[in-house]
Amino acid sequence: MRSFVEESRFFGKQNPEELARTYGTPLYVYNEEILRDRMRTVAGLITKYPYTVNYSMKANSNTAILKIALEEGLSCDAMSEGEIRMLERVHFPYERIFYVPNNVSDTEMEYAVERNIMVSLDSLDQLDLFGKRFPGRECSVRINPGVGAGHHEKVITAGKHTKFAISMEDIGEAKEIAKRHDLKIVGINQHVGSLFMEIDPYVAAVENLLAASKHFPDLKLIDFGGGFGTPYHKLDGEGNFPMQDLHDALEPVLDDFVKEYGYAPLFKSEPGRFCVAEGAVILGRVYAKKSNAGVNYLGTDVGMNVLARPSLYDAWHDIEILRNGKAYTDGEYEKITVVGNICESGDKLATDRMMPVSQNGDLICVLDAGAYGYSMCYTYNARPRPAEVMIMADGSCRVIRRKETFEDLMALFTD
Ligand code: LLP
Repeated sequence: MRSFVEESRFFGKQNPEELARTYGTPLYVYNEEILRDRMRTVAGLITKYPYTVNYSMKANSNTAILKIALEEGLSCDAMSEGEIRMLERVHFPYERIFYVPNNVSDTEMEYAVERNIMVSLDSLDQLDLFGKRFPGRECSVRINPGVGAGHHEKVITAGKHTKFAISMEDIGEAKEIAKRHDLKIVGINQHVGSLFMEIDPYVAAVENLLAASKHFPDLKLIDFGGGFGTPYHKLDGEGNFPMQDLHDALEPVLDDFVKEYGYAPLFKSEPGRFCVAEGAVILGRVYAKKSNAGVNYLGTDVGMNVLARPSLYDAWHDIEILRNGKAYTDGEYEKITVVGNICESGDKLATDRMMPVSQNGDLICVLDAGAYGYSMCYTYNARPRPAEVMIMADGSCRVIRRKETFEDLMALFTD
């Protein structure tokens, strides 16, 4: 079996066993160089026209990562007032924030408007609410391009069955509402869904959005959304997302559009996962092995509260065994179901997975945990959320979020 952590030298000169002992398990470990590398890759998607990457911080809002995005010249999309506040904490310039909320109050919109942050409205009602409260302003609208894509039905955000965006047929009405409130629609955006490895749906959606853009003569920005996949089956040889192919496919489409539209607005993409997924792993400890009714279980401290994706979407995460600080890939293999310490039968990281025979005290290393990992952690069963550390480019290790304490958990009670 291959080992990603060895091949990528993920831990650099740090020893994962020592990290686990120092900071405790479960532990999120990030790698600065990988994060920067992925951000740079996506920054090369459109090269001929003005283009910015909006890092979609819902994937991971740790302020250390937001600072890296800032340094790499990325912009950010925020989904809530809380996310805007996190960006403010790292002094992210307001003109590099795009606020893309869904079903929010005008008070929450006000938080962005007061700071001159561009807001995207994703329904006729939200556009109307915005217009009533902030007449005469500039804004964007989120359009459903009619094409969706994603790794699970729960994360497809365009096409037929989705709560998001304004459909193409309603563009006329959106323009009416905007006119009524003297709003200037200067941006148009979309997001087809999360995690696709083929470029065709994205290109089709871009074409549709560009067709819709022609209804809006004064656009300053067109945001094509994110969703670029990362290889979650890399130990089985799954390849990377073909970013260069997407670059090559988009260029002639943009050429045609710019010729017809008369000028090139700022083009944007909005990736979350691509920037951060591969830049983190979770270290967990094996505490028990057992066999129930013919199923072998590997009992660890990486519960669904620490990584929700497998229990929510049946998502696959490669898992390596580490012994004495080194990837353990030798010896016998066994079919095993990897579970956590949460009181739910659905608390499974992997089902019937072929893995090297491990023993109590080994570490598990869950790959590709940087996106929608910590940001979706929760404290079920009164388990404090784990610490996050980062292996820096100079080889040192920095705590970028301390482990939650029991005091933190108690802090909100009033009795
Ligand atoms: N823009 C908008 C408007 C979005 O709704 C999303 C993701 C993104 C950008 C970033 O998508 P990405 O490039 O990360 O695929 N929790 C799920 C994914 C939910 C995605 C929600 N929206 C998961 O763990 O797979």
